[in-house]
Amino acid sequence: MYISTMKRILMVCLGNICRSPVAEGIMKDKAKKYKVDIVVASAGTSGFHEGEAPDKRSTLNALEHGVDIRSQKSRPLRKDDFERFDLIFTMDESNFTNALNIGDKKHHSKVKMILNEVHPNSNKPVPDPYFGNDGFEEVFQLLDEACEIIALKLKNNEY
Ligand code: 4NP
Repeated sequence: MYISTMKRILMVCLGNICRSPVAEGIMKDKAKKYKVDIVVASAGTSGFHEGEAPDKRSTLNALEHGVDIRSQKSRPLRKDDFERFDLIFTMDESNFTNALNIGDKKHHSKVKMILNEVHPNSNKPVPDPYFGNDGFEEVFQLLDEACEIIALKLKNNEY
């Protein structure tokens, strides 16, 4: 009997247009790089931008690094995501708390702060770049570092 152990990963921010789409794109590239078979998606704790493509500033910055997020569409985090996904990575403490309020308690251990992969137990945020004009490169670099670690953990069956 074949039992699939393929992990399903969900990246979560507030609007699902700036940070989590970049996290999704980078994570998909890392999965290819390390040949790990995973499903990756992203969502927002709000539905403010539902149906929209990622913010152009995120899209252009990611493209400069060879990561193409142009086909993504924003959608809100739903209760059933906690059934469907194994790991839910949030960008900051506000997303983390909001995600816990959406998902059943039995799934709360799936919800993590993404930069705790790099700096364990520190609860550092991926800063929200939406209201400024810079910060997109910093977001990319922080997420690249975290996703590299997540990919290696998956490869080594540590996740
Ligand atoms: P994101 O950034 O959570 O990284 O997608 C934001 C996008 C939109 C808003 C805030 C943050 N907004 O207030 O509309």
